[in-house]
Amino acid sequence: MKACSKVLAVVGARPNFVKTAPVLGELRRRPERFECVLVHTGQHYDDSMSQVFLEQLGVGEPDYLLGVGSGTHAQQTARVMERIEPVMQQLAPDVVLVPGDVNSTLAAVLVATKLGIPVGHIESGLRSFDRTMPEELNRIVADQLSDLLFIHSPEARENLLREGCEETRIHDVGNTMIDMLTVMRDLIAQQHATERYALNRGDYLLVTLHRPALVDGPRLADAVAALAEVARELPVVFPVHPRTRRAIEASGLDSHNNGVRLLEPLSYLEFLDLLTGAAGVLTDSGGVQEETTYLGVPCFTLRENTERPVTCTLGTNTLIGLAPERIAEIPALLAENSRESHIPPGWDGAAAGRIVDVLERTIAHRDGRVGAFA
Ligand code: UD1
Repeated sequence: MKACSKVLAVVGARPNFVKTAPVLGELRRRPERFECVLVHTGQHYDDSMSQVFLEQLGVGEPDYLLGVGSGTHAQQTARVMERIEPVMQQLAPDVVLVPGDVNSTLAAVLVATKLGIPVGHIESGLRSFDRTMPEELNRIVADQLSDLLFIHSPEARENLLREGCEETRIHDVGNTMIDMLTVMRDLIAQQHATERYALNRGDYLLVTLHRPALVDGPRLADAVAALAEVARELPVVFPVHPRTRRAIEASGLDSHNNGVRLLEPLSYLEFLDLLTGAAGVLTDSGGVQEETTYLGVPCFTLRENTERPVTCTLGTNTLIGLAPERIAEIPALLAENSRESHIPPGWDGAAAGRIVDVLERTIAHRDGRVGAFA
């Protein structure tokens, strides 16, 4: 292995920061081995969706900020590709690291592999088997093209093998999002977010909804009506993603005084504090399904499917379908809940270390060769 290998890490959207921060920390702890460059595509750009996370998670300022912003899928993906290509050409990293399944992930993988730069994909192998989800398409392409497939659940290996990915590319490293949670637990506990929002611990429903399938159509109004019904029994607190906020405002749903507390997007620490203290969580997010499973908090997922089935089989997650009227059943479901849950293997706070160990071994093994990892 040459003295110092260059790792180019690419992030773009809110969940990316959480998944990548522990890996950046681990790379920075081995400065004699790794030089790390951070590229932020700017897919998420509001302070509350980006800057707050960079600060709280210790990511620091990105070395490159591409400022791509919002747009159609094609526009956003194309803008990242155009702007990241010269950065990769100039820096010629030994490896590019990408997390998750957002458009920035897809764009970075396409550009890197076409330049012959090896790619490591964090959170590889997840499949919802629902190709109407843009994330599913992004995952499939990212996994086909990446050289190192870092997985955190047993079904990921099966999914990758079924799609023809070689066993040697797959590395079961655990869950970096849970690394972040274990590191931050004390700080999370010091947030006092329940007091700030006048909530009682164990006595409110926390809501996050942002997927186009729900938000960009008529189901949103039904969801808000069902939440109002829940709010008569159990306080409902809903930090609103900008996409959802836009849809709520466009349909006038925000003017209804229906007992549902709509908040601005929260910081990582505040959100995790509210999540820890919730009686239950209603979500369509991927990361929240994992965090609730780790924390043992009941989670209801407003989707027909999940790319994270381990959160249902071992964890606390229940799929209630894309059926907003079922939201009203949540208080009853919570009352009768006697389910035992477990933390999936490898969700232990040490995933980032295992990823960086793989990088060290692989780069050392490749010494003297050109192109993709062997
Ligand atoms: C993206 C990801 C999704 C992930 C989510 C996490 C894709 C295809 N989707 O969805 O997988 O779960 O991030 O949050 O990559 N907006 C702002 N400010 C921002 C960011 C977005 O106002 O900082 C608004 C814009 O109106 C924008 C809309 O939100 O058009 C959607 O943003 P976009 O980045 O396209 O997708 P997300 O819905 O955030």
